[in-house]
Amino acid sequence: MKSRTLKELVLAEGAMAHLFERYGIDYCCLGHETLEVACRKKGLDISIVLREMEQLRLARPYSFLHCDLWDEEFLIEYIVENHHRYCHATIPVLLEQLTILSREHNSSGASESAYPYIKPVLFLFQRAAHEIEQHMRKEEMILFPYIKSLASAKEFARRRPLAPFLTVDGPLNRMEEEHFETTQLFAKIRALLSDFTIPENASAMHAAVITGLQAFINDMHQHVHLENNLLFPKALALEEKFDKRTGLPREEPQAKVEDRKSSYDNREARTAQSNSTAAWGHNS
Ligand SMILES: [Fe+2]
Ligand SMILES: [Fe+2]
Repeated sequence: MKSRTLKELVLAEGAMAHLFERYGIDYCCLGHETLEVACRKKGLDISIVLREMEQLRLARPYSFLHCDLWDEEFLIEYIVENHHRYCHATIPVLLEQLTILSREHNSSGASESAYPYIKPVLFLFQRAAHEIEQHMRKEEMILFPYIKSLASAKEFARRRPLAPFLTVDGPLNRMEEEHFETTQLFAKIRALLSDFTIPENASAMHAAVITGLQAFINDMHQHVHLENNLLFPKALALEEKFDKRTGLPREEPQAKVEDRKSSYDNREARTAQSNSTAAWGHNS
């Protein structure tokens, strides 16, 4: 169990995501790490984590969502209809609440000194919100339609669809980079909020902002997990099924997904590759 990767554990049992969230273990962007490595990096006693995982498994012996069985099209629909929609609806609310809270604390010297993290959290969330909106637009306008049309072309033995990039690997790398950047901003917010601890004398608005941010960030991790660890490897494997010369689907699939996993952490190479994709803008 300790040698299994975080993404394998969450894909096998979605409830593990809740446990990893509690410990601040990044299963979405660092899903390729083993449980053992992740625990070591966080200074956690792995025997305690394993015991909790077992308890969780006994308490929730099955999952309602079998996302590892979904095809690309359904997975994309789920991501857009569940996670993107949630982002579009929640970001303005959180931004407004944070702005009001920040203004309230600014108008009271005593409160401002009591909660100095509010303004930095607001700035970090504003930046993350802007990046997320741009990122989702690229996914919804370019990447996801391409993956869907690729799946359709494979199914009906048609040519690989035209795209504003040479191979889907470039955009996928770019998206993974952006996921990583956003989750780093969220990690800073979590640290500023002392792991989402609500201060004893916090107002109702203050408490709502902290619980709202925690829910949003947890949801974003699940969202990124589905893309990084499920959809993107599927898209890459799908594209590999097409002959580069004829553009038609091949009979023999190739195991490029494993290659991708092994080079997962080579951010420099991935950035250089994605930068070569002219039509793929950077959102920061
Ligand atoms: Fe997304
Ligand atoms: Fe994404």
